Amino acid sequence: MADLAMTRTREAIEVKLSAESRRYDIVIQPGLLGQQGRLGDEIRSLAPADAKILMLTDANLAGLYQEQVEKSLHAAGFEVYTCVIPAGEASKSLAQAQEVFEQSLAAHMSRKDIMLALGGGVVGDLAGFCASTYHRGMPLIQVPTTLVAQVDSAIGGKTAVNFGQVKNIVGTFHQPLRVMIDPDTLDTLPERERIAGLAEVVKYGLIETSCTGETGFFEWQQMHADNLRAVYPEMIRRCCAIKASVVMQDEFETKGLRYFLNLGHTFGHAYESLSHYGLLHGEAVAIGTLQAAVLAARLGLFPAEAALRTEALLKKLGLLDVLRQAGDFPPQSLLERMRQDKKNHGDAIRLVLPEGELGRVVVRDDIPDAQILAVLAGG
Ligand SMILES: NC(=O)c1ccc[n+]([C@@H]2O[C@H](COP(=O)([O-])OP(=O)(O)OC[C@H]3O[C@@H](n4cnc5c(N)ncnc54)[C@H](O)[C@@H]3O)[C@@H](O)[C@H]2O)c1
Ligand SMILES: [Zn+2]
Repeated sequence: MADLAMTRTREAIEVKLSAESRRYDIVIQPGLLGQQGRLGDEIRSLAPADAKILMLTDANLAGLYQEQVEKSLHAAGFEVYTCVIPAGEASKSLAQAQEVFEQSLAAHMSRKDIMLALGGGVVGDLAGFCASTYHRGMPLIQVPTTLVAQVDSAIGGKTAVNFGQVKNIVGTFHQPLRVMIDPDTLDTLPERERIAGLAEVVKYGLIETSCTGETGFFEWQQMHADNLRAVYPEMIRRCCAIKASVVMQDEFETKGLRYFLNLGHTFGHAYESLSHYGLLHGEAVAIGTLQAAVLAARLGLFPAEAALRTEALLKKLGLLDVLRQAGDFPPQSLLERMRQDKKNHGDAIRLVLPEGELGRVVVRDDIPDAQILAVLAGG
């Protein structure tokens, strides 16, 4: 009942970084972008009266939300410029950043003005990169509209563009001024994208205790798996709280904790890359998360029963067909890709593996190839 009671209320999670001045809120509020939405008013409380807003969004989002967001910002008194980029990963490029800089110059954006990212991780990462470099840094507001962006990419300050075929290789750390999440925007998100994003949610269930010391998110997901949609605001809040906790403890990924967020990702990146990005990131992470659990169980690190529960949850959330595709890729090629993962140290494959109980993980770089291969081969 408590879950349902909060579904339409405003929730805020504080992200407090090392210096007192560097804190921000992640606000979760269903209906924030709707016709009577309060987005403009929320931003008004953060920005000087004469601040201009450059909104970055993609072509799909523009058709759905541009008008109402502009209306809400205008009603709050802001001068608004909108830059619409093509949808898709190819827009995370220096060429696209250049266009944003050109529009920023044309609009006479200054350091006190605001860049607003309305979209998924592509828009958010590009807007973040531009906001952190234009004028040596201007305020950024993230309004994430995909599940991946609402539970992951909009929080934590990592920004990037792709360069020379390498993903996220040119980027910065630039924390937003605020993250404003309207879970209702997921109603228009294509089903495939929404389900893929749930793999990251399952990931949070498996790393929660190591990140926050708390337990129960995995079980909570199991409990609500039949109708997770009804509790999206609470689900998003719990994911954001875990990510915020990790970022507060390890803002610049120097202390190891932030690495836990990579559970399932070393396996996942190999599938993503071998599928030539035919698999969505979240889909590849679903395969990778299960394989990390299976490998940990093989090694005696994690109860076999817990690995089975992980598989059952992923399937219940709609990822069964995706998990079946794991068998389409040659294990040896996958292993080679895993060895090239940019987060490895040297040749050793670095893996986050569940350990002990649901919610706990460990980082290992000493797992024999034969064990990894057996899992890649479906063992
Ligand atoms: N910065 C980080 O910490 C971080 C973390 C994870 C992922 N990422 C990055 O995020 C990117 C992936 O983000 P993504 O999965 O959000 O993909 P995306 O931004 O490409 O969005 C997926 C698709 O959904 C559409 N869309 C978005 N919101 C919609 C809505 N509400 N209704 C209808 N359509 C909508 C988009 O136009 C796009 O076609 C990758 O580039 C990845 O590297 C960054
Ligand atoms: Zn991910």
